[in-house]
Amino acid sequence: MSILVTGGAGFIGSNFVLDWLADSEETVINLDKLTYAGNLQNLESLNGDGRHVFVRGDIGDQVLVSRLLEEYRPRAVLNFAAESHVDRSILGPDEFVQTNIVGTFRLLEAVRAYWNALDGDAKTDFRLLHVSTDEVYGTLNASEPAFTEEHQYQPNSPYSASKAASDHLVRSYFHTYGLPVVTTNCSNNYGPYHFPEKLIPLIIHNALAGSALPIYGDGQQVRDWLYVSDHCAAIRAVLAGGRLGETYNIGGWNEKPNIEVVRTLCTILDELSPAETGKSYLEQITFVKDRPGHDRRYAIDAGKIERELGWKPAETFETGIRKTVEWYLANQAWVKNITSGQYLEWVEAQYS
Ligand code: NAD
Ligand code: TYD
Repeated sequence: MSILVTGGAGFIGSNFVLDWLADSEETVINLDKLTYAGNLQNLESLNGDGRHVFVRGDIGDQVLVSRLLEEYRPRAVLNFAAESHVDRSILGPDEFVQTNIVGTFRLLEAVRAYWNALDGDAKTDFRLLHVSTDEVYGTLNASEPAFTEEHQYQPNSPYSASKAASDHLVRSYFHTYGLPVVTTNCSNNYGPYHFPEKLIPLIIHNALAGSALPIYGDGQQVRDWLYVSDHCAAIRAVLAGGRLGETYNIGGWNEKPNIEVVRTLCTILDELSPAETGKSYLEQITFVKDRPGHDRRYAIDAGKIERELGWKPAETFETGIRKTVEWYLANQAWVKNITSGQYLEWVEAQYS
């Protein structure tokens, strides 16, 4: 038995692959294009492990995906592959349309042909699990209830619009072709192997480098933070027991304003790795121009997945954020390796 994971060299995908193989003998075929966000160093511990087959390629390459499906005959496909950073989608939406919309469509076509040709239990048991985001629901004001699965899609960034489009395509393949799909919509993740363009790893990196800690606008935007291994556990639960054609919201019940997240990071860093200057990292906080179209608040009602599948996050924000800082402090070589070249050009374009 095997599963095909796309985007398994990225932040969440690589955590998923590592967690999966820590607990299962089932082979993972990992298809990843290795964009700037894909990093095989995340999977170094699997070198020489026959249960992990890495293939560099594009989910939009239908011929390649069909060949992999025929060759490995997976019982499930889990689609993590995406362009995932909102700020990049504002500077250049093209890749987001190509990968998130066109790529997902081509993947669906390849999977549909493969699934159609299956029979018996292999056909009944097959699953396509599409990994998506809470950002498809748009933004909430301070008093509105958290997003349930019934909330209307109202995406506000090219990133969230492209993810919304991919969710709609996945849904349509269930209703039109009967393809056995489930979709998950998760809140903001954090944890090991998070690329340092996203808020939490960027703040840790900049703090230690003695650089400014950029807070967009007033810093009062709220995100609902989930430790990445909790997301991976939720995906395993949905794969095992999720109802076909359904969507499941996944979240940490951890709503925090950005400024509070950054202050917490500074306080933990002051304790675990104090600056040589003797000053608190809090002094590096710098308010900068706001992100265009910046969503004010995301909040997930994760009641459905808890009621139906018994999933609940294991980490609180307090335990998860401390583990995360400890991981980054212990893995500075990983950070150094990726904070070079193309990444620096992007930082220049974004923050100049
Ligand atoms: P990431 O940017 O860290 O990784 C994306 C991975 O996909 C990279 O390894 C990249 O090389 C690969 N990829 C990109 N385009 C590809 C293509 N055309 N073909 C094959 N591989 C391709 O993203 P992430 O944070 O790990 O997010 C994974 C998924 O989870 C995405 O679908 C994202 O929308 C979703 N999600 C992310 C978060 C979050 O907080 N990071 C929250 C909810 C949902
Ligand atoms: P990010 O990690 O980019 O995730 P998303 O935009 O998908 O929620 O950003 C999290 C929040 O932090 C978001 O409100 C934007 C804000 N932010 C900053 O204030 N400064 C930064 O340098 C970054 C990258 C994000």
